Amino acid sequence: MAEPLKIALAGLGTVGVGVIRLIDANAELIARRAGRPLHVTVVSARDRSKNRGVDLSPYAWEDDMVILGEREDVDVVVEMVGGSDGPALALARTTIEAGKALVTANKAMIAHHGLELAGKAEDKKVALKFEAAVAGGIPVIKALREGTAANRIERVYGVLNGTCNYILTVMEDTGREFGVVLGEAQAKGYAEADPAFDIEGTDAAHKLSILAAVAFGTRVDFASVATTGITRVRAADIAQAAALGYVIRLIGMADTGGDGLFQRVQPHLVHCDHPLAHVDGATNAVVAEGNFSGRLLFQGAGAGDGPTASAVVADLIDIARGETGPAFSVPVSELEPLAAAPTGHRRGRAYLRFMVADRPGVLAEITAALRDAGVSIESMIQKGRADTAGEVMVVMLTHEGPESAVSEAVRLLDGSPSLSEPPLVLHILDN
Ligand code: NAP
Ligand code: HSE
Repeated sequence: MAEPLKIALAGLGTVGVGVIRLIDANAELIARRAGRPLHVTVVSARDRSKNRGVDLSPYAWEDDMVILGEREDVDVVVEMVGGSDGPALALARTTIEAGKALVTANKAMIAHHGLELAGKAEDKKVALKFEAAVAGGIPVIKALREGTAANRIERVYGVLNGTCNYILTVMEDTGREFGVVLGEAQAKGYAEADPAFDIEGTDAAHKLSILAAVAFGTRVDFASVATTGITRVRAADIAQAAALGYVIRLIGMADTGGDGLFQRVQPHLVHCDHPLAHVDGATNAVVAEGNFSGRLLFQGAGAGDGPTASAVVADLIDIARGETGPAFSVPVSELEPLAAAPTGHRRGRAYLRFMVADRPGVLAEITAALRDAGVSIESMIQKGRADTAGEVMVVMLTHEGPESAVSEAVRLLDGSPSLSEPPLVLHILDN
């Protein structure tokens, strides 16, 4: 059998330890498929004395992870540290500059610096791979780079954050509020080191910008993803959605159908007949619509040690086989620099939720704003007086219409003393 692929692991947290366990457990099978064994030679993290539940004695320890790629006993570095900049980026740069391949699970870094790193990797003729950065264990980057390579992908969307999906699903099942459930997602190892990245939608936006670049052959444009997280979704919204035949899911959606690149992450009402309505817990799912393949659905565990390790090691197997194609499907110089699409002319249905003072005339004020903005109401529910200081929840579904009209209605209601918080607007995904 050929020489082993010599691997340095940077980061020994949830993902790093998962990678050690997987390479160890499936060593023989992996060597057969890769054509040579995968050998971890050296590891690095912050705290050498931490008990990680795995035996690190077979590996050398490197205190300064940034120089891992410069070591002679390393062919490829796996970065599982996290953070868009800092030591992760320094490590990525030095590794590629040293002419070594880089595998990373770090979507923040790829969303911000992926083009620079991919360009450097092309110059050095080394692989840059990031399957684990998007949708955990689902091999969706490979599917889009290879399996659907003959198609023009017209739209790509899905459930891209396991933490949010876990939280929304538990809220759905138990009626508990979001803040209470977040700690459970953290304890299960799904959340980012700073969980604000999950619940504010940033993590999903990182992944969407990477997915869009691979799917459409456009330059990564994280800055133009319109992002809203799940922090304003109440258990009562989930109950109302259920009564109307919907679930609430954080959806990342991108297309190039308008006048540019449209990218948005936002909680949506998803019709219970849509496949994404059945994506529960930390599961992720990605829908890609190709002009010849039709609609493809990829689904699986979106976070956690095992699934993420599976994606990392798949990249290592590709590198062991000598696969070094362009990171984003086409060379960086050929990625299209598509401008962000204007959203004003997009059409759709929406869920509007108002928390209002329970007094005469409030409903008239809301409906007047909707009328003046040209929003047509399909149905309305007013829940009885809530426990909290006479606050009442009013929910409306709109007919299909321009999104700009809903935005205008919200603008007209801005600062109204009748509303105890700004209206919550969720777009609807019917099919
Ligand atoms: P984690 O459990 O917090 O582990 C991070 C590791 O990096 C730890 O071993 C830590 O060392 C080390 N580290 C952090 N800062 C460091 C520094 N300044 N210098 C040296 N070492 C440092 O994180 P994780 O969940 O494994 O995630 C790692 C990466 O994978 C992130 O980019 C994340 O977004 C991505 N990812 C995670 C998942 C998931 O399900 N968890 C899924 C897909 C992608 P110590 O242990 O010594 O503190
Ligand atoms: N924090 C991320 C999530 C990890 O919850 O989806 C997987 O990328």
